[in-house]
Amino acid sequence: MKKMLIVLLILSVGMAYSQTKTAKYIGSKKCKMCHSKAEVGSQYSIWEKGPHSGSFETLKTDAAKAIAKKMGLKASPEQAPECLSCHVTGWGDKSGYQLEVDPLNKKAVKKNKDLSRVGCESCHGAGSLYKSKKTKAAIAAGTITRESVNLITISEQTCTVCHNPDSPTYKPFDYAVRIKEVTHPDPSK
Ligand code: HEC
Ligand code: HEC
Ligand code: HEC
Ligand code: HEC
Repeated sequence: MKKMLIVLLILSVGMAYSQTKTAKYIGSKKCKMCHSKAEVGSQYSIWEKGPHSGSFETLKTDAAKAIAKKMGLKASPEQAPECLSCHVTGWGDKSGYQLEVDPLNKKAVKKNKDLSRVGCESCHGAGSLYKSKKTKAAIAAGTITRESVNLITISEQTCTVCHNPDSPTYKPFDYAVRIKEVTHPDPSK
């Protein structure tokens, strides 16, 4: 009986802990296996062909260098926090894109490369807690909320974190128009 109580205690502490766990960025490639097929809406390839997947490469262009020079930045744009903040995934978060990773840690290098663009999680939220099929089914069934696993309900504010006048190339952002250029609906819904 005593043993049982201890086990229960450990379990409940464990559950309380897992509920307060913070979501971590995992990278868009981790979403690919379940969100590639045409039947579900080809989200991965639509995103890959869309405006966000090349956001880091854009920082290596002459246009980017010219902007950085004009702003008086010392670092090249793809090394400058002033540019990276909106051109990668999870800037400023410990599990997000990092300026430097241990080159010998192959897993970390690979993940960092995957985060070096505006990926799925830039709009949907850091994915470690909501990625699984089981969690998604629970959300669909209404047994857990999207918020409890950090799956963001997308609104204009999701975009204006980056699409705002702090962008050196800012174009006025009309949410209703621009949203159509990035969505990737599930055709079965
Ligand atoms: C193991 C497979 C799997 C992985 C990995 C996965 N998903 Fe999903 N996801 C699903 C399934 C299945 C659904 C559909 C759930 C339903 O509607 O019943 C779904 C639904 C969604 C939805 C819609 C949820 C809603 O309530 O509207 C979003 C957004 C989403 N996934 C984003 C992501 C992102 C971003 C990643 C990577 C960080 C990811 N998923 C990784 C299987 C997966
Ligand atoms: C993490 C920052 C970030 C978030 C969040 C973000 N974007 Fe972007 N977006 C960018 C960057 C950076 C570019 C430019 C990429 C390039 O040219 O390489 C871009 C480009 C675009 C473009 C094409 C260029 C343009 O301005 O017409 C559209 C359309 C767009 N985003 C729509 C959206 C919408 C809609 C949302 C919200 C649902 C959103 N974005 C969320 C950073 C972001
Ligand atoms: C506040 C977020 C933000 C910051 C900071 C930012 N960008 Fe961007 N960048 C964007 C968005 C959003 C776009 C898409 C076009 C737009 O609306 O500005 C973009 C587009 C671009 C483009 C493509 C040009 C175009 O007209 O589409 C270049 C080049 C660029 N950024 C360079 C830079 C450089 C260099 C820096 C750092 C000095 C930087 N950006 C900092 C958000 C940002
Ligand atoms: C620029 C922002 C943005 C990015 C980046 C993005 N999405 Fe989405 N996604 C949206 C919007 C907007 C919707 C429309 C539904 C909503 O409002 O929540 C959506 C919907 C979805 C849905 C639900 C489709 C449905 O009809 O039920 C899935 C699944 C999904 N996205 C997966 C992904 C995956 C996987 C990636 C990366 C490969 C990704 N998204 C990247 C903005 C984005």
